[in-house]
Amino acid sequence: TSVALAFSGGLDTTVCVSLLKEEYGYDEVVGVTVDVGQPESEFEEAKETADAHGLDLHVVDAKDEFADLCFDSVRANATYQGYPLGTALARPVIANAILDVAQEEGCDALAHGCTGKGNDQLRFETVWRASDLDVVAPVREMGLTREWEKQYADEKGLPVQSGNDGVWSIDTNLWSRSIEGGELEDPSYVPPEDIYEWTETPQGETGTVEIAFEDGYPVAVDGEEMEPADLIEHLNELAGQYGVGRTDMMEDRMLGLKVRENYEHPAATTLLTAHEALEQLVLTKEERDFKAQVDQQWSNKGYQGLVDAPLVKALEGFIAETQTRVTGTVTIKFDGGRARPVARESEFSVYSEEAASFNTKTVGDITQEDATGVAKYHGFQSRLANAAVENATKD
Ligand code: ARG
Ligand code: SIN
Repeated sequence: TSVALAFSGGLDTTVCVSLLKEEYGYDEVVGVTVDVGQPESEFEEAKETADAHGLDLHVVDAKDEFADLCFDSVRANATYQGYPLGTALARPVIANAILDVAQEEGCDALAHGCTGKGNDQLRFETVWRASDLDVVAPVREMGLTREWEKQYADEKGLPVQSGNDGVWSIDTNLWSRSIEGGELEDPSYVPPEDIYEWTETPQGETGTVEIAFEDGYPVAVDGEEMEPADLIEHLNELAGQYGVGRTDMMEDRMLGLKVRENYEHPAATTLLTAHEALEQLVLTKEERDFKAQVDQQWSNKGYQGLVDAPLVKALEGFIAETQTRVTGTVTIKFDGGRARPVARESEFSVYSEEAASFNTKTVGDITQEDATGVAKYHGFQSRLANAAVENATKD
């Protein structure tokens, strides 16, 4: 019997390789590492760890597919409690890639190293349980703690991802880097600077960048057209230098647990900020109000790892309609660790300088005086209601 394991080379999945053989009795463990834009060093580490284990490791490239999904999330202005959905969106992409390998290799089961407390178990399994392969989750099923895992890895002489040594639990992809566990579990603990790898500590330097959008998709940076994955990597570098895109938050997980999470996501913050700035220019107020609700629904499904839900397709129908006018450019200023829009332009702009300016008298045949009637009626019903209450309560 054989099992395909979602393998990153980190502590959890390294320990799983041994357990799947020794405790679960699988003859063969097929490791699958899915490339969703982790830094090259992670693949090297995963390969080294796999070699040391004698693990057959498949590396599947899903970077472009993931980058496309990230851009769909930009069109939906997707964040969950303020965090761009890096981990959440990567999971279904990873789960599908692993399922494909498992089916090609004729595996009997699928395994992940997620705990029974987190979100990732749910995001993996919703994809896997649509197949008829068994699903095994050693960390959850054996109730493992990271302390236990560290000791087990020591005893067995298992190599564990270097540099980190299992101090933090880290999850990286194009869209975000998440750091959790260890002392970070104490919400009053101030994280050391070295948990961050993509973002410099903001030093007071500023910079600007111009992002071009077509139909709500980012297409160019400072006039240079780029493919989605390249564009994201480029902005992670650039915005990261200015310390843009750090989040230190209390997150409400799907199971109801509150956890302290740290993220860095320079490109995501830059693109989401720019996209929203462009929507402010080209969408009507009623579109924006309604889209905020649609975006929230999209974000919730994204967080849950359910981007395949029929609801998401339906939401995207609406989103696509609105995005036909989200074409133009936005200039973002990196300043004090923040990304601020400082200029925007679009041929679909709803803004009319003539209409809004304090310096023009009329717009077409509308004059300022025409607003007098509107002003008379504004709040009329509230005034009537308040007067009625006053009347009824006076003795
Ligand atoms: N809690 C976050 C989420 O659900 C990130 C979890 C990332 N996993 C990790 N081992 N750092 O999106
Ligand atoms: C885990 O619990 O395995 C990682 C964190 C999460 O899934 O939310």
